[in-house]
Amino acid sequence: MAPASTPHPAPDIPTLTLATGAAIPQLGFGTYKVTEKVVEVVSSALALGYRHIDTAQMYHNEAEVGQAWAGSGIAREDLFLTSKLDNPNHEPSAARRSFAQTLLDLRTDYVDLFLIHWPLPMHYGGDFVTTWKVLEEFLADGRARAIGVSNFEPHHLRRVLDHADITPMVNQVEAHPYLPNRAVHDFDAEHGILTEAWSPLARGRAASDPVLAEIGEAHGATASQVALRWALQRGDIVFPKSVTPARQAENLQVFSFELSADEVQRIDALNEGEKGRTGTHPDLMDRL
Ligand SMILES: NC(=O)c1ccc[n+]([C@@H]2O[C@H](COP(=O)([O-])OP(=O)(O)OC[C@H]3O[C@@H](n4cnc5c(N)ncnc54)[C@H](OP(=O)(O)O)[C@@H]3O)[C@@H](O)[C@H]2O)c1
Repeated sequence: MAPASTPHPAPDIPTLTLATGAAIPQLGFGTYKVTEKVVEVVSSALALGYRHIDTAQMYHNEAEVGQAWAGSGIAREDLFLTSKLDNPNHEPSAARRSFAQTLLDLRTDYVDLFLIHWPLPMHYGGDFVTTWKVLEEFLADGRARAIGVSNFEPHHLRRVLDHADITPMVNQVEAHPYLPNRAVHDFDAEHGILTEAWSPLARGRAASDPVLAEIGEAHGATASQVALRWALQRGDIVFPKSVTPARQAENLQVFSFELSADEVQRIDALNEGEKGRTGTHPDLMDRL
């Protein structure tokens, strides 16, 4: 699969600053459900200019992500790599063992960000603080340059904040126009935690939304680009996934226009609350 030719050069992708002082590109490439031709798909994204890859132990594609990076010629310091601890690996020994494997698979000495994928309050005696303490070890020994959580509601985060030495630097949660997840976003912001919005295209639904399409017309942008722009303007980090090079290129072109306050308000009105959720509510996710 050759990278799509794009009429625009790869954009300069803005960065946000993690609590460590390190920069994180505000737009990256998601790899959930990238299970076929993974090396080609990720190589295409890298060739187009993506420099932030979001993977996870659960996605079973870390080795291919590592292979794509190794073949890209991109210097390690020019790539931001995130992975996540899988649900069966919360016990400290399993966390340590699986994290070592993640680094081997990704062919690197460190990840830029490592997250607890789900809080799993119904497993491990409801104790995700012990797991968090293991991530603090990875930060201390330098093998994770930053650490955070994913799918943590404010009540989960409060427990971590009460017992942790290190405040999670990132919280990666589902967020898009149909489920803005504003309470989580606001809680994160109050505590200096960056929010990463997963499924920023609502798994593709945004592409055919008439309101987003109409707003896009005024900017020469597609509905998907408008959804991404909305997330970026509220300060979230996004990593849309596409196995299609033309869409990978399209999703990068979101820095040359700005949504007005009125347009943002129209997008805010697409909020469907819980009905808009595409994934499992964090309190209910129990899959090991
Ligand atoms: N922490 C978590 O629990 C969690 C959960 C879910 C996702 N994530 C992360 O967030 C990333 C993004 O979420 P996601 O993959 O679930 O969904 P998404 O990025 O919101 O949407 C992906 C879907 O949209 C389609 N698409 C992409 N760009 C498009 C465009 N420009 N026009 C039309 N359709 C387009 C893709 O199709 P094609 O691929 O066929 O082109 C795919 O079907 C994941 O890959 C993963 O890294 C994390």
